[in-house]
Amino acid sequence: MKHRNILLALLLLPLSAMATEVKSPNGNIVLNFTVESGRPTYTLSYKGREVVRPSHLGLELAKDKHASMGMDERDLMDDFVLAKEETSSFDETWQPVWGESKDIRNHYNEYAATLSQRWLTAPPAAAKGGPRLQPRQHRRTIIIRFRVYDDGIGFRYEFPQQAELNYFLIKEERSEFAMAGDHKAWWLPGDYDTQEQETQESKLSEIRGRFQEAVNWGNSSVAVFSPTGVQTSLQMKSDDGLYINIHEAACLDYATMHLELVDAETKALTTQLQGNSNAYTPNPAPSAYPLPQPFTFVSHLTPDATGLKGCMQTPCETPWRTVMVSDDARDMLSSNLILNLNEPCKLEDTSWIHPTKYCGVWWEMIVGRGNWHYTNDYPSIQLDKIDWTKVKPNGTHKANNENVKRYIDFAAKNGLDEVLVEGWNVGWEDWANMWKRDVFDFVTPYPDFDIKMLNDYAHSKGVKLLMHHETSSSTQNYERHMEEAFNLMNKYGYDAVKTGYVGDIIPRGDHHYSQSMNNHYLHVVKEAAKHHIMVNAHEATRPTGICRTYPNLVGNESARGTEYEAFGGSRPDHTCILPFTRLQGGPMDYTPGIFVTKLSEWSNNPSWARITLAGSLALYLTMYSPLQMAADLPENYEKFDDAFQFIRDVACDWDQSIYLEAEPADYITVARKAKGTDNWFIGGKCDENGHKTNIKLDFLEKGRKYDCTIYADAKDAHYEKNPQAYTITKRVVKAGDVLKLTEAPGGGFAVSLIAK
Ligand code: NOJ
Ligand code: CA
Repeated sequence: MKHRNILLALLLLPLSAMATEVKSPNGNIVLNFTVESGRPTYTLSYKGREVVRPSHLGLELAKDKHASMGMDERDLMDDFVLAKEETSSFDETWQPVWGESKDIRNHYNEYAATLSQRWLTAPPAAAKGGPRLQPRQHRRTIIIRFRVYDDGIGFRYEFPQQAELNYFLIKEERSEFAMAGDHKAWWLPGDYDTQEQETQESKLSEIRGRFQEAVNWGNSSVAVFSPTGVQTSLQMKSDDGLYINIHEAACLDYATMHLELVDAETKALTTQLQGNSNAYTPNPAPSAYPLPQPFTFVSHLTPDATGLKGCMQTPCETPWRTVMVSDDARDMLSSNLILNLNEPCKLEDTSWIHPTKYCGVWWEMIVGRGNWHYTNDYPSIQLDKIDWTKVKPNGTHKANNENVKRYIDFAAKNGLDEVLVEGWNVGWEDWANMWKRDVFDFVTPYPDFDIKMLNDYAHSKGVKLLMHHETSSSTQNYERHMEEAFNLMNKYGYDAVKTGYVGDIIPRGDHHYSQSMNNHYLHVVKEAAKHHIMVNAHEATRPTGICRTYPNLVGNESARGTEYEAFGGSRPDHTCILPFTRLQGGPMDYTPGIFVTKLSEWSNNPSWARITLAGSLALYLTMYSPLQMAADLPENYEKFDDAFQFIRDVACDWDQSIYLEAEPADYITVARKAKGTDNWFIGGKCDENGHKTNIKLDFLEKGRKYDCTIYADAKDAHYEKNPQAYTITKRVVKAGDVLKLTEAPGGGFAVSLIAK
């Protein structure tokens, strides 16, 4: 008996294994993995420089009332031994349905560590006079899989189906990312319900001091969890010039990840929600595990209405946690690591998915010159109790036949593919923040919106209408009506929908980025695909590259978009940060193209956009998206028709993209070759300091001539003082020529190069 116990004790002794080293294909990135005192631990280096210091991996599980029925609740944090190691390599080039380039190379070395967790539980009490029972031995297996690329790594946890790990609840994922210094970071406060804040730029050590100010900005749903909580994608820069980015890929059936920074003042990792949400956590006990060292980020998942972070059934896996690194900022923008970590396209037929340029009945409502709602006569609306033909119109409803036809004519005249119309369907009178369940039915148009006539009119001119479904975050209501709503779209020939999730989530207590909500967003995308409908989801969770698998997800907002130019404005460097952060996971429906930046020129709104007109043109290149809006009013574009020519000409799908220059929050310059043509477009956008650039046209085809049109800031242009000062110059260029350009403060430029 004694021998058996010694054997068991030996089995439970963690093996002090040597670290396993895995290199990226070019050898620049080196991952080390080991199991140290029973805890999975990794490090990462780039060209010999520390990127991630020893960091633990694991998950804390929640106790549940079903534990007695077999719900597993022992943490997946420690008592591990390394049972098996597997390495392999992968090199494949694939073609996205739409994207920044027509070919994407997916090249990595993979390492999978199979970890065995063993522990003993006390024996049941022996029957009186019976033999003493032995402790029960338990054993579970998980796999941690790493993919090591030349531009970073991804790792995830995999949970095979097994007797002792079947159903489990996640209290918190504890993936650590120990930074090697007090890096500069571009961060948003970690929040379960919004990601529309201005980005903060500070040292890691300054996050705590800046946090409150970063949160005080007045969105309708704010749910922060820690004074050092931040969102991903988090872009950083070390003092010695390394660019490091942490995000996630393939967030499917799992909660969106935030990061909690451990700093000098951290006493314990956060378990309780702070902020204005009504969610609670059933496991408020602080983590029992030792705190990691300062400058370590620890994963923090978004809870659902019960406070839980994940309800899992094996076999299953987590999303990939990604760390990108380079000494060249341009590599942060050209990286395909996140797309590569997603599964290949699951849709058999993708012929109906297309890049889209659109305008819309939108900006005039956002700015406040018109309304989504039709009547002012009711204090509240009950959809089934109103005869809309008898309701008195307010005269400011913008989704009316005449106005929509005006936009259709504008789109047809200027070669835009679609026209978004918001406020077309009944229910906008009391749509937001009322905890109203049956807020919209998504099929009943207001009386002044003739859905058949307008679609026929648009189609007769080669234009489509773009559907709008604001769910008001009443998600079950949307799911109940979705099939009928998509059938209506099919009937009238819509092939794209913009969805929206304004306000707190109904069912109450849930959050925008929880596992249940992420499942909802994906459900919408999959159902839409069955109807050949493309989806552009606003306020939904930040993307993690799932557009590779479901390419009908053509856009998300999921950050501070152009609408904020009407709500007080965004900083001039905002669009020089987004490509490093929000755009890592997928395209943004930023809705660029504001030409008349001082909104008081045509409305009562005192807000103004901090960008020059030429800078607005640049965004069609620097903010990559297959869905590009020309957001300003037709009459504003008509005043600057020579500049609008660039929006008419610019492509939104590409064979090749080359980032020529980049520095987070300062400037981005990119050249892109339009899909299936020999034409190139170049865009450069800068912050409030202006920027000078020399663009060597060495990417053009040798021996070929190009008609080059340059839309640039005039000498005296300035985002505040003189935003509409621009020049348009034309010349013929060839490979090797150099364009010398000056971007004004808050400005930029756009160039078209049409092959002769
Ligand atoms: C917020 C969206 O971002 C905006 O584009 C939309 O117009 C409103 N919600 C109304 O749905
Ligand atoms: Ca700057």
